[in-house]
Amino acid sequence: MQSESVYCLGLTTSPRKGGNTEILLRKALKGAEKAGARTELVDISTYRFSPCLACDGCFKEGRCVVKDDMQVIYEKILAADRIILAAPIFSMGMCAQAKTMVDRTQRFWATKYVLKRMVIPEANDRPPRKGIFISASGSNHKNVFAGALQVAKYFFLMIEAEFTGSYCYSELEEKGAVLNHPDILSEVFEAGNSLCSAPQKPSIATLNTVED
Ligand SMILES: Cc1cc2nc3c(=O)[nH]c(=O)nc-3n(C[C@H](O)[C@H](O)[C@H](O)COP(=O)(O)O)c2cc1C
Repeated sequence: MQSESVYCLGLTTSPRKGGNTEILLRKALKGAEKAGARTELVDISTYRFSPCLACDGCFKEGRCVVKDDMQVIYEKILAADRIILAAPIFSMGMCAQAKTMVDRTQRFWATKYVLKRMVIPEANDRPPRKGIFISASGSNHKNVFAGALQVAKYFFLMIEAEFTGSYCYSELEEKGAVLNHPDILSEVFEAGNSLCSAPQKPSIATLNTVED
């Protein structure tokens, strides 16, 4: 079991309270707790923040100049050792609440690529940051998760967390439909548990790229 100090942040983004992705996230966080992590579930859909304004205000210091609830979410993202992003598929992509949050990580893009600084300068002094993505869709269209997965990979790359896996489940249209799938629930429990279990060295296969 890993130290209690590992902080696992779960971001639920669906506006449907108690929906499939929230259920899955809660299960993953239970697994994280079993591994000894301190967990927090944050319901992004209840925070009020604007889309990125593309004002380039973050190009100066890597901070977002838009003062809204996203400032609170930034602090949580920066503090987390493990991050689980849960977002349903809306219109073949991540729901707007999740995508809007990801767009606001532009400040981290600016930190990395404009200012050429680390987003987590103290990375060597704390547990390695890692993250997984959870999603659900109504249909079983073969590419239904493709767009959301690209955005999720980009998100973890921007926040300097190693993307270690995605857990995407189709044919879950109705609210709570996933409760009829104990196999899925135990899979995400294990995913949360292994995410927060003893650190492993990053493998080439799991290093972040947006292209693959
Ligand atoms: C606005 C909206 C758009 C949706 N678009 C899609 C879609 O493009 N493809 C799909 O397979 N399911 C789509 N769905 C179904 C959801 O992905 C599905 O109900 C999922 O379980 C919702 O997760 P949640 O309960 O966590 O909100 C859509 C649902 C809504 C409300």
